[in-house]
Amino acid sequence: MLKLGIIGTNWITEQFINAAQETGKWQLTSVYSRTLQKAQEFGEKFNGDFEYFTDLAAFFAEGTFDAVYIASPNSLHFAQAKQAILAGKDVIVEKPACSNPTEMQELVALLEEHPEVFLFEAARHVHEPNFKAVTKAIEGLNVVQGATLTYAKYSSRYDAVLAGKEPNIFSPAFSGGCVQDLGVYLVYDAVVWFGEPDSVDYHAVKLPTGVDGSGVASLHYDGFDVTLNLSKTFNSYLPGEIYGLKDTIRMDHSSDLNKVELDDGNGHLELLSVAQKKNPMTAEAEEFAAVLNDKSSPDAKQLEKDWLVYAVLVNKVLYQLRQSAQIKFKADQTAAEIEEEKNES
Ligand SMILES: NC(=O)c1ccc[n+]([C@@H]2O[C@H](COP(=O)([O-])OP(=O)(O)OC[C@H]3O[C@@H](n4cnc5c(N)ncnc54)[C@H](OP(=O)(O)O)[C@@H]3O)[C@@H](O)[C@H]2O)c1
Repeated sequence: MLKLGIIGTNWITEQFINAAQETGKWQLTSVYSRTLQKAQEFGEKFNGDFEYFTDLAAFFAEGTFDAVYIASPNSLHFAQAKQAILAGKDVIVEKPACSNPTEMQELVALLEEHPEVFLFEAARHVHEPNFKAVTKAIEGLNVVQGATLTYAKYSSRYDAVLAGKEPNIFSPAFSGGCVQDLGVYLVYDAVVWFGEPDSVDYHAVKLPTGVDGSGVASLHYDGFDVTLNLSKTFNSYLPGEIYGLKDTIRMDHSSDLNKVELDDGNGHLELLSVAQKKNPMTAEAEEFAAVLNDKSSPDAKQLEKDWLVYAVLVNKVLYQLRQSAQIKFKADQTAAEIEEEKNES
């Protein structure tokens, strides 16, 4: 059994632990929270005798876990992943793994210095069978002429923005915003299915907090465009589509892929999807466990490297999209800019 430590005690961590337990390959051992009460309340949701920590250095130094699942606010992922690598712990870091390419390059360099440590960005949908069915269907198209992908879901935290507050997920200090959150899924779609775009544009609808609440992005490829519709301020039920010549790959959603069909343009629909697992994190928990349980094999290392290549590309495209819309995070500031800000205040 792989021993699991966790950072972040919100619902997503509970969902990941449930998925991990469903695989039968993971065992929760260690819980970190900023308060002992929260850590214990979280642990009580599961069966077992857990180690509790409120000090991150002690968590990494004394925790008996093999791998850490990091589900803290986005801006904290980088420093926590770094701490984990230096402590020799494998890392599953929630998307987005890093705020910008500077952080990402530092993590990649650190991983090269510590080849015994594996790091995975938890891009859950990429590991699901229906995502792989779309990848295969695209390989079967004679030509790709574009795609329209949508992920627009009203965030319960938008209520706070409307009330004049700045919750983490809508805060530039915490590397929040729509493209950095839901955009990750669609950029993964584009990068895995079509490769790195030649250039990108992002028309963002900005919020008073300084980040994007919604927007439309264009990813330009040689001979076609991929359009991304994104929002955390309204709901959309638009399906996703990938255009061949007469044929179209039709998806009920662009990341939660329950139904995928190939439409030949002549009235014939071929079902490509299978029934998904109820918990959308089970596939990644299964694949990460398989790789970690086979760590010494070249195949496992290769898979980890391949996933990291996608993570680096996604991070690069997200940064380009933010630059296009002039969205700046606190994590992007240079030392000189931080100093200047200090002097001004
Ligand atoms: N894969 C998916 O489907 C999925 C879905 C949702 C979220 N996510 C990702 O999961 C991560 C967490 O998202 P979330 O919405 O749960 O975030 P969140 O509620 O803002 O924070 C998550 C946890 O981090 C700790 N935390 C909160 N504010 C903090 C602060 N100022 N300083 C230090 N720690 C703080 C809290 O744990 P303690 O109070 O116990 O310390 C909290 O439970 C994000 O990266 C998000 O993108 C992924």
